[in-house]
Amino acid sequence: MSQMQRAADVLRRSKKIVFFSGAGISAESGIPTFRDKLTGLWAKHDPQRLETADAFEENPALVWGWYLWRRHQVSGAKPNPAHLCIPRFQDAGWEVSVITQNIDDLHERAGSLDVVHVHGSLMDAKCFACHRPGELTPDQLRVAEEGQLIEPPRCDHCNARLRPGVVWFREKLPEDAWRSAVRRVRECDLLISVGTSGVVMPAAGIPEMALAAGAAVIHVNLEEVGLVGADEIMLKGSAGVVLPALLRAAGAEAIPDHHSC
Ligand code: APR
Repeated sequence: MSQMQRAADVLRRSKKIVFFSGAGISAESGIPTFRDKLTGLWAKHDPQRLETADAFEENPALVWGWYLWRRHQVSGAKPNPAHLCIPRFQDAGWEVSVITQNIDDLHERAGSLDVVHVHGSLMDAKCFACHRPGELTPDQLRVAEEGQLIEPPRCDHCNARLRPGVVWFREKLPEDAWRSAVRRVRECDLLISVGTSGVVMPAAGIPEMALAAGAAVIHVNLEEVGLVGADEIMLKGSAGVVLPALLRAAGAEAIPDHHSC
């Protein structure tokens, strides 16, 4: 039996599915993954160095400019067939949640209803000092040119700098989001992990958490990921091809074709 047939069998036997996504799911929308080399003016920066509280303290205008540029990149991107396919599983009768490490909003724009962002969101800002959420005016969201230094706006409450509402290296995940994610993982029958290198903890532990709770796990990735158990299945290929193929293999192709999935 092929891996796709095994996956389709598991899918047919499942009721509650969690999609656990990483940067690879947005790659086909033109958003570079974390482990891709940066191009253009950003090529001289290491994202792992820009995405820390220390970097923000050292050079807030550089880090704020980097996130505004990424926000601009995301607002110009469209959900791809992988994002668009996930709500089709909902339409076909499965109970679907998405847990994403991504800070873009492409799952929401594709129509997924239940999306948990464990690494925060590019669309949010919060105060670097008092952590209250910050509101940004359209002017403060003006298009950043690549590599531009932009001084962050100030907090209305304490006048400290606003920072992006994302999780940086060495920071804790937002407690509410993490709790919601863990609950969904423990309750699911099947976890489909899509486009993640699985190296950044604690989120990278989610597939193992699902296995430990008795769920099956399907990995969708361009590259082989190390499988540890009999309940894991690897579907190698691009998410935008593999997810629609999985839906069809499970016999759900008869649903109306209102998305280009
Ligand atoms: N389809 C499927 N998989 C893909 C595709 C694609 N079209 N393109 C790339 N991939 C896979 C790559 O093979 C890789 O395994 O997606 C994965 C992307 O890995 P990373 O760049 O490490 O992204 P991610 O796993 O989301 O990173 C985790 O690291 O930098 C931090 O906080 C950041 O949330 C991020 C976390």
